[in-house]
Amino acid sequence: MTESQSREVTFKVDGRSLRGRQGESLLEALRRYGYQVPSLCHHEAVSPYGACRLCLVEVQKGKRRKLTTSCNYPLMEGIEVFLDTEQVVSNRRVVLQLLLAQAPAAERVRQLAAEYGVNDTPFEVEDPENRCINCGLCARVCKEVVGVEAIGFSGRGAGKRMVAPYDETAEDCIGCGACVFVCPTDCIGMSETGGIRTIERWHRKLPLKTCSVCGRHFAPTFQLNKFAEWTGLPRGHFDKCPDCR
Ligand code: SF4
Ligand code: SF4
Ligand code: FES
Repeated sequence: MTESQSREVTFKVDGRSLRGRQGESLLEALRRYGYQVPSLCHHEAVSPYGACRLCLVEVQKGKRRKLTTSCNYPLMEGIEVFLDTEQVVSNRRVVLQLLLAQAPAAERVRQLAAEYGVNDTPFEVEDPENRCINCGLCARVCKEVVGVEAIGFSGRGAGKRMVAPYDETAEDCIGCGACVFVCPTDCIGMSETGGIRTIERWHRKLPLKTCSVCGRHFAPTFQLNKFAEWTGLPRGHFDKCPDCR
């Protein structure tokens, strides 16, 4: 945290005076005070990307009032925030129509849309089976938290998709499952059969290590070898599952 980010600031939400840290994400500050703001692409562990545009709010700074995404809006002294204004709600409804067209099979999107009375979309549906909203959260977690860059966007515009390199196998993927855990629309998929973990969307299959004490499969061998490399600990240290260590 920089010195300016540790500075306290005062801001208002729908007329209520509150305090927060300069530069922190407005969305996170709002949530800390219990405000409900919908979001799909935000996670506090990684940098904001502003992809889903659901976290819209209106912010007034001096005389200027504008509609903005709150996840990537840095909190600052004196701003006034308005949450569910007519403008916010009508724009959020359009965002939900767009998301419904992009990912019509995503249950989470359909649920959120229904909460705003949006049950259909006037926009063109390209793939009725698609669940990915191109929020990039999987790739940000993979890079910024796991420290691997196994996946990324390919293509542009309407052809933009989150894939493994060349849409083949993500050879750098260690099979940790972090991307599966954070994906807001559950469209990556992980399964384990016959001692093999499969990360489905990235076509990655990794044999699992058998614990030298209790004999159960516990983590991909490739992942454990990477841990040994990163930590400098001997590979033998990772022969046992966390329960038997
Ligand atoms: S499972 Fe693979 S792609 Fe997903 S976060 Fe872990 S290393 Fe990255
Ligand atoms: S796979 Fe999931 S996390 Fe990744 S971009 Fe698509 S919706 Fe977002
Ligand atoms: S959560 Fe802010 S744009 Fe997605």
